[in-house]
Amino acid sequence: MLTQLIYISRAVGPQTTTVTSQILETARAFNKSHDLTGVLCQGKGLYVQVLEGERSVVNSLYRSIAADSRHVDAEIVLFGEIKNRQFKDWSMALVNLSIDDPMVTMKHPEFDPYSADSRAIIGLITELLSSSSAIQTPG
Ligand SMILES: Cc1cc2nc3c(=O)[nH]c(=O)nc-3n(C[C@H](O)[C@H](O)[C@H](O)COP(=O)(O)O)c2cc1C
Repeated sequence: MLTQLIYISRAVGPQTTTVTSQILETARAFNKSHDLTGVLCQGKGLYVQVLEGERSVVNSLYRSIAADSRHVDAEIVLFGEIKNRQFKDWSMALVNLSIDDPMVTMKHPEFDPYSADSRAIIGLITELLSSSSAIQTPG
């Protein structure tokens, strides 16, 4: 059963390039070998992550992620079966939530994922992904 899970969380400490690179290094290696795909949005002290894969694999990874001390307040926003992957080309894409794209900022002033519904969260992710300046490659 192909499943998608979206959660939000708050970073513990600053979201430096080093922290992000470490997370992504683990994520990309594990995800590739477990047929997981998705996107990690980070910035403004927040994480918003989409995970796609076999239901049991997604569940077990989410348990590890939720227990990770690099973030707190992990909250599942959406969990369900999907027909097709939305991020099939990415073992884990990285998107910056803090970009100064006027179009994105105008549409989502002071975006707070903890008070937004899942549709608004997915909308923001999709928009950020289409704004090429938001996609980062870790150093
Ligand atoms: C925001 C965030 C996102 C993460 N995303 C992934 C991921 O997509 N895949 C992954 O294998 N680990 C990810 N991790 C790392 C896991 O939390 C954890 O360190 C990893 O699964 C190893 O767990 P273990 O030490 O219990 O084996 C992420 C960590 C954080 C803080």
